[in-house]
Amino acid sequence: MALKLILYPDPILKRRAAPVATIDDEVRGRVREMFEILYREKGVGLAAPQVGWSVRLFIANPTGEPYAEGERVYINPRILAAEGEIREEEGCLSIPEVRGIVGRSRKVVVSAQDLGGVAFKEEAEDLKSRVIQHELDHLDGILFISRLSSLDRLRVNKELKQLERRYSAKPASV
Ligand code: CO
Repeated sequence: MALKLILYPDPILKRRAAPVATIDDEVRGRVREMFEILYREKGVGLAAPQVGWSVRLFIANPTGEPYAEGERVYINPRILAAEGEIREEEGCLSIPEVRGIVGRSRKVVVSAQDLGGVAFKEEAEDLKSRVIQHELDHLDGILFISRLSSLDRLRVNKELKQLERRYSAKPASV
């Protein structure tokens, strides 16, 4: 089954995802599909729940270029430390047309497993730090729109309502 991008307000986006128990060829195949979706949609990060797969895994390529050198995979990630603050505009592939300012830690230390099952620890700053926090939020069922100021939230309300109408008009998938 091919993975596809899940849009707001699909309930899977609000669910807390389960840990990845085994990192096998099926997981690696799905991650490859996720990178294809990421590049097609011109994003810099994508979490598994956004493709209908409710597990604790996300991918990132902060370069925005479809080359393997920039590709990172974070499986069962945890933030070990965070410091500083940045406030920048964010968007989300699952919430098209909606953008707003979100406050994030400027720097994080994250631990995770890679596609070979090997544990690693990484320090990230600025854009990369923000991508990691945004994607990790997805694994906890948190969307960036819940982190907007009430003013920004009001500003994007029309777009959100439109997405909600489009979603409820769609026949249930089988
Ligand atoms: Co997102």
